[in-house]
Amino acid sequence: MCGIFAYNGKQNAIPLLVEGLRNLEYRGYDSAGVLWINKEGNIFLEKAVWKVSNLARQVDDKKDSNTYHNGIAHTRWATHGKVTVENTHPHFSNNNRFFVVHNGIIENYLWIKRELQKKYEFYSDTDTEVIAKLIEELFDGDIKSTLDKVIQKLVGAYAIAVIDTENPDTLVGAKLGSPMIIGESNEGIFLSSDINALGQIATQFTTLDDHETVVIQNGKFEVFANGDSVNKRMEVMDETHEIADKWDFPTFTQKEIYEIPDVLKNCLNGRVNFEEKMIHNETLQELDEYDIESIEIIASGSSYFAGVVWKSWFESLSWIKTEVRVSSEFLYETFLPNKKTLYIFMSQSWETADVREWIKMVQQKWCLTFGIVNVVGSTIARMCDMGLYTYSGVEIGVASTKNIVNQLAVLLIMALHMGASRDLQINEIKKIISDLEKIPNWLRVLTEQKESIHALAKKYAQYKNFFFLGRNVVQGTAAECSLKLKELSYLHAECYATGELKHGPLALVGPEFPCIVINPAEIQNEKTVSNVKEIKARDGVVLGVLTEWDEHKEIYDDVIELPKTHPTLSPFLPLIPLWMMSVEIATLLWKDIDKPQNLAKSVTVE
Ligand code: AGP
Ligand code: GLU
Repeated sequence: MCGIFAYNGKQNAIPLLVEGLRNLEYRGYDSAGVLWINKEGNIFLEKAVWKVSNLARQVDDKKDSNTYHNGIAHTRWATHGKVTVENTHPHFSNNNRFFVVHNGIIENYLWIKRELQKKYEFYSDTDTEVIAKLIEELFDGDIKSTLDKVIQKLVGAYAIAVIDTENPDTLVGAKLGSPMIIGESNEGIFLSSDINALGQIATQFTTLDDHETVVIQNGKFEVFANGDSVNKRMEVMDETHEIADKWDFPTFTQKEIYEIPDVLKNCLNGRVNFEEKMIHNETLQELDEYDIESIEIIASGSSYFAGVVWKSWFESLSWIKTEVRVSSEFLYETFLPNKKTLYIFMSQSWETADVREWIKMVQQKWCLTFGIVNVVGSTIARMCDMGLYTYSGVEIGVASTKNIVNQLAVLLIMALHMGASRDLQINEIKKIISDLEKIPNWLRVLTEQKESIHALAKKYAQYKNFFFLGRNVVQGTAAECSLKLKELSYLHAECYATGELKHGPLALVGPEFPCIVINPAEIQNEKTVSNVKEIKARDGVVLGVLTEWDEHKEIYDDVIELPKTHPTLSPFLPLIPLWMMSVEIATLLWKDIDKPQNLAKSVTVE
């Protein structure tokens, strides 16, 4: 969601900033803007709604003019005000001296705006514009000390980069909540909301922490906290931080689904000993030292549904009480801290604001926090007391796929390990691990069934509404697949526990409202068969996602067959064909697969 990219150094800043914005595109945005400034203080400001490519076209004739070596750029995901050129960043002060890009939300902006309106004219509906006007109002001759004063007045979350046109060699930034990475190369300094956008251009990086400000001048930077200079530890940029390539796939999402078997192996390697059929992990051994009586898992969207799967796994494998909470709601519920509860925070994008805020609150009560994130050294990883990485590589598609599979893998490893130190029988663990070893290959076989999935997609793309049904351990899978169809195709899909259908939703079922029923072997299969018969009795259309050789196959209108696996592993297999079907349906409906409308990859606002 939204991105800042800024550069100060020796190189031509025009192509660098445009490329930086392109690399931030996958996060989701709806307009983009840039401000460049040269040594003489001449500025070049350009804004465009919708795509970065529109902006790139507008600046194309200037891209070779190697006079601009300082600049700020922004992709905006509108929170305050419509998607218009006026609302697009950079925003500026009345005297046209200060230019600002901002990620996040200034919660008290109306109050500040009302005050400033007595003196200044506002041209946009954004909360960001108040920052530009406030800089003008509080300017004390030095942009850094002015920025310090400005941020003291702001309530909310922000990452800000500012240019003072009277000091054309300088760029300043500050952050609270929203991410900001400082990248360094021999040619200059970059600010970016996303480390992945720095992968190919910076050699080292560090993360700006909350309440820190950065001053960049002539290609060198200095960070300050409470007025004092801070010595930041630089880390080497490696290839894991590069924006990925689509290979020969039409979209990143398709490529990411195809990659799943390999990234899953990556996540399991070194943690699961397939020869001994045991889990070996130091973090989990460390976790054994704590007296944990219950678990709360806090996440959003697909990560939340991975948590729903975990609840069924964990309670059955380790008999520990588990709650799964939607992070945006958890924030406003009464929090009853418990020192014997492990609070697990899970986020594929590593910077979801709703999740981040919760970590702070749980830590204030001295409770144990555990992060499950993808990116090493990322915000949530650094905030939590301990955690495990999903190691799924960069995921560009807004609809998360390979990350979810690896979240499930990490959760399963935890459940098996924690179960082993409780009452879970060693033989059972060995059986599960033995089948787990086969899962990547089975997933690979499923990714190859493109033609049959395409045929199903052609049939189901004509419907407007869907129910996804699953029970027990595959209920979370059904919920995830329903979310994915919504996200990608913009068709209406809802998920219910299969047995719940008769308590209301059945009223909608009929020939125009198909049900996609996940019904693998050994997950109360017969009960679900009865529910399918109830749907068929009302002329409903049913696509069954079943284990091969299912003896009730003929009652379904269509079937997707899955290899037989240990029932505990059932949540993994339906994901691939159902995600592929959603992609195919969305393609048939001409939707933007990688960047669904209105959505963002990382939701950095509450
Ligand atoms: C996944 O396909 C979605 N784009 C979305 O629901 C996502 O899972 C949610 O926003 C949570 O994101 P996080 O895992 O990065 O915190
Ligand atoms: N709240 C600001 C706006 O609506 C910034 C949004 C963003 O982070 O892109 O312009």
